[in-house]
Amino acid sequence: MSIFDEIGKIVDNFNSEFDKVNSQEKIVELKNKYLGRKGLIANLFSQIGKVEAQDRKEFGKSLNLLKNELISKIDKKNKQFSISEEKSNKNDYSLPGYSFNKGSQHPLTQAIDEMLDIFNHLGFDIAYGPEVETDWFNFGSLNFPENHPARDMQDTFYTEGNGILRTHTSPVQTRFMTKNKPPIRIVAPGRVYRNEAISARSYCLFNQIEGLYVDENVTFSELRGTLDMFCKMYFGSDVKIKFRTSYFPFTEPSAEVDVSCFLCGGKGCRVCKNTGWLEILGCGMVDPNVFKSVGYDPEKVNGFAFGLGVERMAMLKLGINDIRILYENDIEFLKQF
Ligand code: DAH
Repeated sequence: MSIFDEIGKIVDNFNSEFDKVNSQEKIVELKNKYLGRKGLIANLFSQIGKVEAQDRKEFGKSLNLLKNELISKIDKKNKQFSISEEKSNKNDYSLPGYSFNKGSQHPLTQAIDEMLDIFNHLGFDIAYGPEVETDWFNFGSLNFPENHPARDMQDTFYTEGNGILRTHTSPVQTRFMTKNKPPIRIVAPGRVYRNEAISARSYCLFNQIEGLYVDENVTFSELRGTLDMFCKMYFGSDVKIKFRTSYFPFTEPSAEVDVSCFLCGGKGCRVCKNTGWLEILGCGMVDPNVFKSVGYDPEKVNGFAFGLGVERMAMLKLGINDIRILYENDIEFLKQF
């Protein structure tokens, strides 16, 4: 077979293969087979030395013609495939997806949930009370004398009519006791309001969790054990806790609990007022007058109560040194939790 016949054969083969091509991949394959560096056309070019001298010019010319024809046929088909592929590929599932910002719960919500979870483990149910209270539940039922300074307009926000924004969650104690009989073991989370100067450590509203345990023969050491356990479960077992004697109208005896300020490592900072300690809760044995105000017989039952400041505790744990940031909805701050 002469080398010219070979050209003819290649043309025939190409045409029949070309007609069968049905995808872009196949056209690339075909291109490589005929026009690649080691393809059939290149192979023919390399054999030019074997051609009789007088025929070489003719041979080279027809080979070039053939090559150009194959190139233009292949390119044309390739373009058709690209266009139809574009049309059918409106959705390209191989592209990376759009990223979007995922929300998360507010750090305070997370802290409250975590604290309630711990109290749940310690056997406390959850109770709720209203944020707009009556003077009776917020103060009177809790043994506040008529002239107690906490009733002062400076601390308490009053609403139109005779309502007040509760200044603590303690009224949930007396509300719950008027509707339920002992034994009682509840915690009550919620917002409280005080007309105080706003600073790094106090805000006009904040969250408390109230605790109440009423039964027969409840002891102060049970109170200590419960709070000790709670603090260790929330802060970790090496937290330092200090009980200080204190006074509240609704408990007798009363105490306040401080934890070591690990925001500053105990050295003193603006959150702990340079004392190295942070007051996180008040507690005590329920005053007999409180039992009387809800119709319980203080000779038959007793109990303990406590009220803790959620923000103070969460700030300590999360290393936040200004309470106001918890109420500013600063997305850069919130994104961290
Ligand atoms: N209600 C108190 C406050 O807001 C905190 C408190 C102290 C709650 C002693 C209690 C308690 O239940 O026993 O400052």
